[in-house]
Amino acid sequence: MEIVREIKQLQEKIVLLKQEKKSVGFVATMGYLHEGHVSLMTEAREDNDIVAASIFVNPLQFGPSEDFEEYPRDEERDIFIAEKAGVDLLFIPEVTEMYPTENRIEMKITKRVNVLCGRSRPGHFDGVITVLTKLFHIVMPNRTYFGLKDAQQVAVVDALITNLNFPIELVGVPTVREADGLAKSSRNVRLSPDEREEAKWLNRALIYGQHLIIDGENNPDIIVNEVKAVIEKKTSGFIDYVELLSYPALEEVETMNKQMILAIAVKFKEARLIDNLIIDASGNIVKHYK
Ligand code: PAJ
Repeated sequence: MEIVREIKQLQEKIVLLKQEKKSVGFVATMGYLHEGHVSLMTEAREDNDIVAASIFVNPLQFGPSEDFEEYPRDEERDIFIAEKAGVDLLFIPEVTEMYPTENRIEMKITKRVNVLCGRSRPGHFDGVITVLTKLFHIVMPNRTYFGLKDAQQVAVVDALITNLNFPIELVGVPTVREADGLAKSSRNVRLSPDEREEAKWLNRALIYGQHLIIDGENNPDIIVNEVKAVIEKKTSGFIDYVELLSYPALEEVETMNKQMILAIAVKFKEARLIDNLIIDASGNIVKHYK
């Protein structure tokens, strides 16, 4: 595995690989790698000649009161994990390498962001699409892999790729979970032992909601309120949102005959956790997104 810290150096390598007609799979991360990230890398390894990954905690996607400074970082461990996962090129730029000037171009996404995390984190997805546009231009991947744990991000990247005509195939990879169902996240380390125990109820509450749908409940408000009630009863967390929307358009659901997302965000003392299930019209969980 090669570690590359400069854009120019990475571009030169990618251009050579393209000349050799190698296919490139790309996984963007903010580091502090866990099995969720590894599953994206593993899938990229299966489909492509070359796997490129990035580690960059992107300041543009953090709000002023969010955890940019405190975001967990461990480069040495990340390098070890990425190498083991089969990454060929690991891009680790400094902030000044990615954003060298103040008068930079920033992008704005107007659809799929007035709900879920987009509503509670204004500007977050603008920061995400800005950094991804740069990374896509630098890496020029044939395929890119994103986790469905961040399903709104997948919907946003889908819009980015389509709207800006990137010749990139988007693959949405299933959420990797702990044994008790908690979605793996770099932020889980910030849960207290009691909160960690309660956090399994996020996934359980979603599954409860899924079963209401399977059993024929077709009123979205009732489903949302039932899921909220589970979280309120079983955790000390503060509910940021519980929403049932169409997927990937992220619009209100009027009838239950479409692909939908049941999504949740809960704030614990030091960590805000998110989780979701993507559910087809028959109530089954959709694990992959292509
Ligand atoms: P980060 O939170 O590091 O996540 C990187 C990728 O790993 C994302 O596609 C995310 O959905 C995926 N991922 C995280 N936890 C996962 C899990 N438990 N199962 C499966 N996939 C999981 O998302 C970001 O970074 C940033 O917004 C980024 C896209 C890198 C742009 O800065």
